[in-house]
Amino acid sequence: MLTDKKIVLGVTGGIASYKACVLTSKLTQKGAHVRVIMTESATKFVTPLTFQALSRNPVYFDTFDEKDPQKIAHIDLADWADMIIIAPATANVISKLAIGIADDMLTTTLLATKAPVYIAPAMNVHMYEHPAIVKQMKQLENWGYHFIEPGAGHLACGWVGKGRLEEPETIIEVIEDHLTEKQILKGKKVLVSAGPTREIIDPVRFLSNRSSGKMGFALAKAAADFGANVTLITGPVHEHIHHPNIKRVDIISAEDMYNVIHKHYPTQDIVIKAAAVADYRPKIVHEEKMKKQSGELTLEMVRTQDILQSLGEKKKDQFLVGFAAETTNVIENGLKKLKAKNLNAIVVNDVSEQGAGFAGDTNKVTYINRDEHLENIPLATKQNVAKHILRRIKRDLEDEIT
Ligand code: CTP
Repeated sequence: MLTDKKIVLGVTGGIASYKACVLTSKLTQKGAHVRVIMTESATKFVTPLTFQALSRNPVYFDTFDEKDPQKIAHIDLADWADMIIIAPATANVISKLAIGIADDMLTTTLLATKAPVYIAPAMNVHMYEHPAIVKQMKQLENWGYHFIEPGAGHLACGWVGKGRLEEPETIIEVIEDHLTEKQILKGKKVLVSAGPTREIIDPVRFLSNRSSGKMGFALAKAAADFGANVTLITGPVHEHIHHPNIKRVDIISAEDMYNVIHKHYPTQDIVIKAAAVADYRPKIVHEEKMKKQSGELTLEMVRTQDILQSLGEKKKDQFLVGFAAETTNVIENGLKKLKAKNLNAIVVNDVSEQGAGFAGDTNKVTYINRDEHLENIPLATKQNVAKHILRRIKRDLEDEIT
């Protein structure tokens, strides 16, 4: 899997940099070509010569040490790499990358590369849990960086907790798994809808719901990571995404969403409707701001079109997946929707449960396919739940084709 892969290994200044030596050796033994970039602090822990001997390549640590006058080293390395691994990644390098600082050989290469980047953090447990670091890691994850979570145990600083650099064998395993899985949706066109819709009352008011778009964005990212060409159609959300395989289309109302989805629908292989679409909109959209009056106000509402239903009616070869947010009779209601809307699968969640549903970063769902086979996906980050859902879709898609 790693034979002839061109890997840049970024080593930053932490006690765990000794494990990066083992990682270099193992990657090289697997046939990868490894070039190591060290930060200045890393050179205080391990000498560049160690990495040079293990990788059998020159080691880079000074942006201005241009080894070949024909090339600019950090751009050359950024373009050369099939992937970049940062292990150990300190709080410092994570933060610098998240805000775009490029002040040494490693960070300049990281900003210049288009290759996938795997980050294996190692730091004190309290640093790892600091809101600044949590925020930067999340930001990087949203931009498509891959994290290899640190293990828990005795840390060099004396504390016991999460922050220990994952073992080199496990880092390699994660990357190999990722490479195997990376292509499972290659060539497939996937459409994901995400977020809430806004139904306009007047120029300053609208009706909406609590959907954050996080689940839909996680699905779009996971599908793109699996090699699909993704169209992400989203209502107004605070999420950001930056991935070469994702085309984002922003919409406001249920009607906009209906029109954009139907425009893209005929060419799609998989359609996942994670959006929380309004079922009603105000009958009249006031052009001027409504003035308050004495007494009660009644807003007359009319039904929006059920987009999923309309997709089910027009379905040809698309694998159509709905979502259902329920608070009672979760499975039963999910199954009803699966049949009524002519879906291939439905993902149901009980939004009243702890850790599930809107706004949070975790979810807990049940995936039900056409054969009424139920698969419980336990509480996990929305990113992991998304991967799980897509693996299931891939399997069902293959079963339906064969
Ligand atoms: N949906 C849609 N268009 C709508 C309403 C919902 O496409 N106007 C889709 C959602 O994107 C979701 C699925 O239908 O994939 C289920 O949404 P949900 O609100 O749970 O169910 P409804 O079908 O609206 O049924 P109910 O409100 O009775 O629960």
